[in-house]
Amino acid sequence: MPQPRYQRRDELDPLPYGEEWPSLRSAWGRVDIHSLAAFWVQESHLEGHYLEFGVGAGRSAVAAIRANVRLEPRRIHRYFLFDSFQGLPALAGPDADSKQFKPGDFAFSVDEVVAKLERHGVAEDAEIVLVPGYFDQSLPRFDVAQLGGARAAIVHIDVDLHASCAEALAFVTPHLQPGAILIFDDWNCFAASNDRGERRAVREWLERRPQVRLESYAKYGWHGEAFLVDF
Ligand SMILES: C[S@@+](CC[C@H](N)C(=O)[O-])C[C@H]1O[C@@H](n2cnc3c(N)ncnc32)[C@H](O)[C@@H]1O
Repeated sequence: MPQPRYQRRDELDPLPYGEEWPSLRSAWGRVDIHSLAAFWVQESHLEGHYLEFGVGAGRSAVAAIRANVRLEPRRIHRYFLFDSFQGLPALAGPDADSKQFKPGDFAFSVDEVVAKLERHGVAEDAEIVLVPGYFDQSLPRFDVAQLGGARAAIVHIDVDLHASCAEALAFVTPHLQPGAILIFDDWNCFAASNDRGERRAVREWLERRPQVRLESYAKYGWHGEAFLVDF
């Protein structure tokens, strides 16, 4: 068994490309999707931004930034992190009677998230833009000039709810490029029902856009799945 050359800093530290991978799976079966996404971006010579909808405490942002700042040359320009920073909004529509989620779940303030990014040493590694607010307010107000004309290379949607996912998808559509990765962290929530949660939002999004195709890239645990987009 070869000794790893790279010492992981902690449990959120993805292994670099080219390193011996003991396993892509954690003990509970979760695959490190942020490294897999970074490898795709690198090998496909994509360039663009990382857009994350649903930041929570900042866990996935840390993993994504660490995985992508290792690429030589760097391919991700900026990391846009969209969240209310007050937790989930009121539940509505098909998710209104959820037993799994309630308003205010995952409430972490901007200060708490910034502290986590700093504690894990990624704040100075990357250009990070926090965009606070409930999506129905923050997305229409977002100044797209901040994208500098570049498109999204990786979109991470971890918002649990149908309405939130629909808002994120509508916003991100004009900023996608063929080959971009769309990661849906809650793909199998609501018992993988196609009529609720992120699955329903994606189904409706695709129904309205027949030119858009999604191809599965990786399933990474009981909950999440990543797709490649083409149009
Ligand atoms: C499960 S947490 C995200 C976890 C995070 N990605 C991680 O890996 O640690 C879901 C997040 O989505 C955010 N969220 C859901 N719907 C939202 C909306 N409509 N507007 C703003 N934020 C929303 C919540 O505030 C919460 O922080």
